[in-house]
Amino acid sequence: MPTPEIQILVCANERPPGARKPSCGPRGGLEVYRRFKDRVRELGVRDRVMVNRTGCLKHCSRGITVAVWPWNLWYQQVTLEDVDEILETTVMGAGKPVERLRMPDIPWE
Ligand code: FES
Repeated sequence: MPTPEIQILVCANERPPGARKPSCGPRGGLEVYRRFKDRVRELGVRDRVMVNRTGCLKHCSRGITVAVWPWNLWYQQVTLEDVDEILETTVMGAGKPVERLRMPDIPWE
């Protein structure tokens, strides 16, 4: 398969202590990324769903930030407990949003 049908981007950016802005890494971004990877493998959808950890996705104060393509759905304050709901609702549900986690339409930070 040359390109994934679905791509999940998880911010794992890590700023040093005392940085001007918060970052998703110290909040657990890497752990959320790993949970997505594990669950995608367990669900048997690795052939069509790609999970990537990223640098800053520009919504630092609302992290952990997650974006799901091709639906351009952005989620805020994602925790390990939210991973299954995003996978079941959005990924397995053909782009249905998890409303309680949706990022408001705000400027990039
Ligand atoms: S550090 Fe995660 S959105 Fe900026």
